[in-house]
Amino acid sequence: MEALDQGADIFGIDISPEMINILKDKLPEKEYYRIQIQDICTFNLERKFDLIIAPFRVFMHLLTVDEQLKALDTVFEHLNPGGNFIFDLFIPNLKMLHEGLNHVKDFDGEYEPGKKLIRYTSMHADLVNQISHITFKLVWDEDSIEKTEEWKTDLRFFFRYEIEHLVAQSKLKLVDIFGDFEEGELNKNSKEFIVICEKQD
Ligand SMILES: C[S@@+](CC[C@H](N)C(=O)[O-])C[C@H]1O[C@@H](n2cnc3c(N)ncnc32)[C@H](O)[C@@H]1O
Repeated sequence: MEALDQGADIFGIDISPEMINILKDKLPEKEYYRIQIQDICTFNLERKFDLIIAPFRVFMHLLTVDEQLKALDTVFEHLNPGGNFIFDLFIPNLKMLHEGLNHVKDFDGEYEPGKKLIRYTSMHADLVNQISHITFKLVWDEDSIEKTEEWKTDLRFFFRYEIEHLVAQSKLKLVDIFGDFEEGELNKNSKEFIVICEKQD
């Protein structure tokens, strides 16, 4: 909404109807035409953009090379010449991937004033296929009752030169990989890959 208020002609997709509904709740009805349930590998918005972003690890949900290349090339088709595609991935923590996580409390706070929310994370990694199998257990207060729900997701983790080779196989050109959201250089302390690609003429 902030971006729209500042004049950005911005559109959004997500494969999950639930996520699209959360986004809709933040928008006035007249802006609903800007958001659609679509897969990043196959989307078609019938318009082109100067900038496309896949924030907060969307790309890590693409488990196969085929899906990853389809996504890069579908993004390419939606960019104007000189346009950028930016996405983020976490840098694999080898110790954590090797040891896994067993019911680690990684959030203990409130989702609204006075309403508790706790998150426990379990993870085991398939090191050969570079996939983390993750289970989140959420515990929260709702109408003075404690509720619990489990949610599972698989995330594909990437290494630096894999990203370089992957983008090189696509129609996009790799411009840079930063180590944080402030365009800091990639170094041994970095936690994120911020991948900047461009549609070059
Ligand atoms: C961690 S969430 C980030 C959501 C949002 N980009 C944000 O910053 O709040 C990752 C999102 O990727 C979406 N996703 C996973 N696979 C996708 C696909 N193939 N196409 C489009 N979205 C996908 C999930 O539904 C999920 O909403």
